[in-house]
Amino acid sequence: MNDHYFSASPSAPGTVRTITAHLAGGPVEVTTAGGVFSPGRLDLGTQVLLRALPAPPPGDLLDLGCGWGPISLQAGLEAREEGTGTRIWALDVNERALDLTRRNAAALGLESIRAVTAEQIPADVEFAAIWSNPPIRVGKEILHGLLRTWLPRLAPGGQAWLVVSKNLGADSLRGWLGEMLGAGFTVEKHSSAKGFRVLVVTRAAD
Ligand SMILES: C[S@@+](CC[C@H](N)C(=O)[O-])C[C@H]1O[C@@H](n2cnc3c(N)ncnc32)[C@H](O)[C@@H]1O
Repeated sequence: MNDHYFSASPSAPGTVRTITAHLAGGPVEVTTAGGVFSPGRLDLGTQVLLRALPAPPPGDLLDLGCGWGPISLQAGLEAREEGTGTRIWALDVNERALDLTRRNAAALGLESIRAVTAEQIPADVEFAAIWSNPPIRVGKEILHGLLRTWLPRLAPGGQAWLVVSKNLGADSLRGWLGEMLGAGFTVEKHSSAKGFRVLVVTRAAD
């Protein structure tokens, strides 16, 4: 699996480049590199998600599969603008992606973003929000394992916002999420655009 963007240490050359991405309502210069997801431009599915997302809530926010960091960066920029004090956990298995997220957060002066592997997130943290363009191409088993691990860690009243391509099984994933999470959670389709669905998982408030 060394040549995939979801490897811990990608073998693809890490040639660094600067691109301009539209985040939090404006153009932002960011650094990307080979061996991470969508290094040439902000991914279309991520664009659909970023347009649909609400403001980041106070509390802890998980960016599940952060890549070079666009979702965390938008959350960090908006949290700073709104003064919400959101703590952002940018999680990935790919060390190069984590380095890029740290670098992009530092360039924007966003101290609210921690780029981490799963073991670095304390077990007692519950998330007010989970935002993700999840790694569908890792295969159903790993994807389901990832969602089974993190979605139940939503805080009461918390929401997960996920973007999934219709062609890559958004509707069946929605059904599976409902069954997997069971009572106490709802799974809804928020919107569709450009071949993607935005799904919202809500944990009932206590
Ligand atoms: C579709 S990409 C999205 C990247 C970024 N959020 C974006 O929108 O450009 C999914 C990300 O999930 C990461 N990933 C794959 N398996 C993972 C796992 N088990 N835990 C955390 N992240 C994982 C990949 O390395 C990749 O960066």
